[in-house]
Order: sequence, then C-alpha cells, then structure tokens
Amino acid sequence: MTEMSVLENLKQKALGELETIESAEALEAWRVTYLGKKSELVAVLRSLGSLPVEERKDVGGQANAVREELEAALEAREESMAEKFTGDPLGIDITLPGRPWLAGRLHPVTRIINEITDIFSSLGFSTVEGPEIELDRYNFDALNIPKEHPARDTMQTFWMDDVDEKGERHKLLRTHTSPMQVRFMEKYKEPPFRIIVPGRVYRYEATDASHLPMFHQVEGLLVDKDVTFADLKGTLYEFARRFFGPTRKVRFRCDFFPFVEPGVEMAIECGSCSGAGCRVCGDTGWLEILGAGMVHPNVLKGVGIDPEIYTGFAFGIGVERLPMLRYGVDDIRLFYSNDLRFLRQF
Ligand code: DAH
Repeated sequence: MTEMSVLENLKQKALGELETIESAEALEAWRVTYLGKKSELVAVLRSLGSLPVEERKDVGGQANAVREELEAALEAREESMAEKFTGDPLGIDITLPGRPWLAGRLHPVTRIINEITDIFSSLGFSTVEGPEIELDRYNFDALNIPKEHPARDTMQTFWMDDVDEKGERHKLLRTHTSPMQVRFMEKYKEPPFRIIVPGRVYRYEATDASHLPMFHQVEGLLVDKDVTFADLKGTLYEFARRFFGPTRKVRFRCDFFPFVEPGVEMAIECGSCSGAGCRVCGDTGWLEILGAGMVHPNVLKGVGIDPEIYTGFAFGIGVERLPMLRYGVDDIRLFYSNDLRFLRQF
C-alpha cells in the first residue's frame, strides 16, 4: 500500500470513529490514538526523511492536510458535545447556580463616623482632620495639661523616638482628638468656630474586649459669643436623639477634664436592660458615650482668644462604643480582626 492510501484509510477510519464518540474520555482516547505522539499519522510524518525526494513533498503535504482535518473534526465534535449537554453553543451550563458577587462595603466604624458627621453637619459643624503624630504641646500643654499634671499619666502615651537638643521627646501618637481644638483655633484665630474632628487615637494599653491600642474619637468644638452650658446640653441631646432615637434617656454628670470647666460625661440609658441594670452596663443602667464641657479659659487664652468675650463648649465621643451598643457587639477586637464573616453583617 502506498503512503497515500495509508493516510486516506487512516482518515476515513478516524472520522468514522469520531462520529460515534459520546464521552469526554472516549474523545481524549481518540485524540491520543489518531493525533498523539505514537499515532500512525505522526509515524508517517517522521518517516518522511526516508522517502525518495519526489514522494516526500506529496506525502508530507497529504499528511499535514489529514492532521489539520482531524484536528478540526475533533474540535467540532467537542463543541457539539458541549452543546448537547448544556444546550448552549459556548458550553456554559446555565443550570449551575450563579457565583455570588462579593460586593465591598464600608467598615462599620466608618459608617458610624459618617453618621455622626452627618448629624453634626446638619447642625452647622464642619468636619476637619488632624495629624495622628502630634506634638506634646498640642496633645497636652495647650490643653491645660502641663508636664507634671497627673492627667498625663491617665493617657498612656506612645512616644516617638525623636529627641530635641536637650534629649527630650516631644512627638507622640495623639492620645485623643482634642489637640485639633488648639490647632484649629490657632490657625483661624477669629471665632465663631463650629467643627468636628473624627480620627484615630492611640493609647499604650493592654488589649481586651473593651480596649485596643488604637481606636477612634470624634471631637467637637464650638466657640462664639454668649455660648452657655445650655447650648452644650441642647446640642448633645439633639445628637443623642438623632443617633439613638427620641425615647432613649440621656444623663449628664460632673466629670473632670483639664481643658474644660465645668466638665461632664454624658451617658445614655442602657439599651440591653432599659435602665434596670445588666452585664452590658455593669448594673448601672447607664452607658457613657462622651466627655464634654465648657472650653477652659486657659485653652482660649493660649490661642489668643479673649475668654471674657468668647466662650465655647467641646466634646469627645468614643466612636467604637456606639456600634457596640447599637449592634450588641461585645468585643471591640472584632472590628479590627478583618474577619469577613463579622464585617459582612454591617
Ligand atoms: N479628650 C478626652 C479623652 O480622650 C475626651 C473629651 C472630654 C473631649 C471632654 C472633650 C471634652 O472635648 O470636652 O478622654
């Protein structure tokens, strides 16, 4: 038999078999038999060198044509099989369930901060931000907390390594957002001021269910002529009413912060027990959410504002407490462990 008729027989046999194939495995076996390295076709191609020159060209051309035809037939068969199984010429099985979309979303803490800034912006407050690496002058001194003041100890501070010529350290990670009160007044000089300052703060503290070395605060500052404690109460009541709803009780009690006088803490009625006392509120029925007070005359004087003409109030909200209270989250660490099972719920 000539090489030519070998090739022709081979082609007929292969195409005939291909017609009957119904499974992916059989299709692969067919490919190996007729187009694989050990196939007759490849054997013919390899033997071309031993043929007389005149035959070589014809046989080679024919062999390649057969190979192309078989490859095309294989592809067509694959497609028609896929179509048969799925009814779709692209071989997509439309009966399979879809892949769920992973939609991104805002972090619960970001959402709460946005909510707080929205409320205050509707009350006329602008939002500003400040540096997280602060100078002790802004974080402490200008807030009426001089060097030996015991209030410095209550703010466990992360100090930066940099020292001045006397070997003293001044740079720190801000322990609260209050330094922005001073930076803002120093820069804009002339009241009225009405700002809120959301941001990260840092304390050198052991981590537990209610403490982290990094958390968020939203600072507020309002300075103008004739600002009284009633303005402070009215503003913060309104905030609590909008954030927690109109029926939630609010309480003010005296507290001390060096940069305000008088100073207060504001608490809301515990949502878990409606004020009866439970584990969440430590049996008190109340939950503290912020510190506040009338801006201390020393703070105003320090930035060149006359406290006889201007008065003001300030407040500092602990942000993480709010989503914890609202959603019943009992461990602050959950917010920052990046567990999507937790974060997706918000
Ligand atoms: N900076 C205070 C803290 O981190 C919170 C605070 C209390 C801020 C009273 C204020 C304020 O503006 O008036 O503990």
